[in-house]
Amino acid sequence: MDLKIASFLFFALLISVTKALDPCASQSNGSGDLSIIPTYSKCSPVTLPRTDSFSTVLNMASKDPERFKYLSTLVAQKTTAAPIASGQQVLNIPSYIVQVKLGTPDQLMYMVLDTSNDIAWVPCSGCIGCSSITFSPNSSTTYGSLDCSVPECAQARGLSCPAGSPGGCFFNQSHGGDSSFSATLVHDSLGLGKDVIPNYSFGCINSVSGGNIPPQGLLGLGRGSMSLLSQSGSLYSGVFSYCLPSFKSYYFSGSLKLGPVGQPKSIRTTPLLKNPRRPSLYYVNLTGISVGKVLVPIAPQFLAFDPTTGAGTIIDSGTTITRFVEPVYTAIRDEFRKQVNSTFSSLGAFDTCFNTNNEAVAPAITLRFTDLVLRLPLENSLIHSSSGTLACLAMAAAPNNVNSVLNVIANLQQQNLRILFDVANSRLGIARELCN
Ligand SMILES: *[C@@H]1O[C@H](CO)[C@@H](O)[C@H](O)[C@H]1NC(C)=O
Ligand SMILES: *[C@@H]1O[C@H](CO)[C@@H](O)[C@H](O)[C@H]1NC(C)=O
Ligand SMILES: *[C@@H]1O[C@H](CO)[C@@H](O)[C@H](O)[C@H]1NC(C)=O
Ligand SMILES: *[C@@H]1O[C@H](CO)[C@@H](O)[C@H](O)[C@H]1NC(C)=O
Ligand SMILES: *[C@@H]1O[C@H](CO)[C@@H](O)[C@H](O)[C@H]1NC(C)=O
Ligand SMILES: *[C@@H]1O[C@H](CO)[C@@H](O)[C@H](O)[C@H]1NC(C)=O
Repeated sequence: MDLKIASFLFFALLISVTKALDPCASQSNGSGDLSIIPTYSKCSPVTLPRTDSFSTVLNMASKDPERFKYLSTLVAQKTTAAPIASGQQVLNIPSYIVQVKLGTPDQLMYMVLDTSNDIAWVPCSGCIGCSSITFSPNSSTTYGSLDCSVPECAQARGLSCPAGSPGGCFFNQSHGGDSSFSATLVHDSLGLGKDVIPNYSFGCINSVSGGNIPPQGLLGLGRGSMSLLSQSGSLYSGVFSYCLPSFKSYYFSGSLKLGPVGQPKSIRTTPLLKNPRRPSLYYVNLTGISVGKVLVPIAPQFLAFDPTTGAGTIIDSGTTITRFVEPVYTAIRDEFRKQVNSTFSSLGAFDTCFNTNNEAVAPAITLRFTDLVLRLPLENSLIHSSSGTLACLAMAAAPNNVNSVLNVIANLQQQNLRILFDVANSRLGIARELCN
């Protein structure tokens, strides 16, 4: 064998052996390059009972209605009395996590990625109701609190300083008897891979109650002024992308790339739309959906982007399965059922499950955006029951107890795709990529 080939094979083998020995070793490589750890995976800092991927998805999808409630509260603030989400709604979406460094010297923290949240939230030491993984401001030489009068305090949605309060930018939200969320807006240095953002403003959580609060913090990747893109200024030029691994891969992680370097060069894109009614969210123009070769008839108003109502379609990293407003989902489902021509049953969030014997005729689902057609890989549109005997259409109608006008393209439909958020050029790109 050629020596070059032999040594190449040797190194390839060495790399795969190293990876196999420690699949959780940090893959962080270069500036603004981080691994994304699914909460349900082996490498997760959150200890969850190991279940099969279907149970994992069902369990996570059961939290989608809460997520919709949260998304529906993200209405632009006209008055200080705008509704704000409870702490539980803000924080209770443990799906994908990155490791960051906060303070000086570094304190390692895990943060949930959230494209529909602007602010970063971190449980701080002394927090009542938070778990043991907390940030200790007292151990950081670069930490500082923020005054009530700074613009950031007003920008942080729903924050209001009590008149005459000397305690900095403090807020306290109480929702009913048993649920509360209090935090202080502070600043410290934030390390992401090899990058450092010296003076990052985030919410230091002092207490939470009501519901299961995850132990990690949250990193807001939304579009608003307090989000990572805004606070990192020119460092990332308003660009990031992620690739979420398959729900089936217990051992693997995905990747978050911040900044224009290393992004796919040729990628199909659709315009990113900004909806003044919900300014944090990443809207796209979904113009139609095909099931197999059939373009599903959908009245245009159910897909239309509407700045006055906040209606439209968003890409979200915190919802588990894609959900359409009811008439849209029903139309897709009916066409899908017609083409599979089987008997159907429901399992958890899924109402279109059928015997896997009929899977060969299951049509592909194609999402049609302005300038971009995304034919979903089967893995992203069908999910298999734990026993393996049923396949289910992996989408649902938006929860009907929420006054929502949103269609949400969610995590399960984004597996093994690189999603590029190019806010600077107002475009969203999608390319196939094996993220695992
Ligand atoms: C690290 O970066 C180098 C050069 O860009 C690349 O070849 C390599 O695959 C990267 N490694 C990981 C683990 O991402
Ligand atoms: C941090 O230090 C201040 C001042 O020394 C002290 O009052 C406070 O209790 C400390 N906080 C924690 C969480 O240790
Ligand atoms: C926050 O508000 C709740 C309810 O109004 C109150 O019980 C609690 O003491 C407040 N917490 C702080 C730290 O002010
Ligand atoms: C950090 O940012 C805050 C708010 O903008 C500001 O008050 C403070 O002076 C800044 N600190 C440094 C060291 O730049
Ligand atoms: C979305 O696409 C439809 C159909 O091409 C078009 O009529 C509409 O103007 C687009 N909406 C926006 C906000 O770009
Ligand atoms: C659907 O299945 C039924 C019963 O198996 C069969 O009679 C019918 O012809 C099928 N329809 C189509 C469109 O294939």
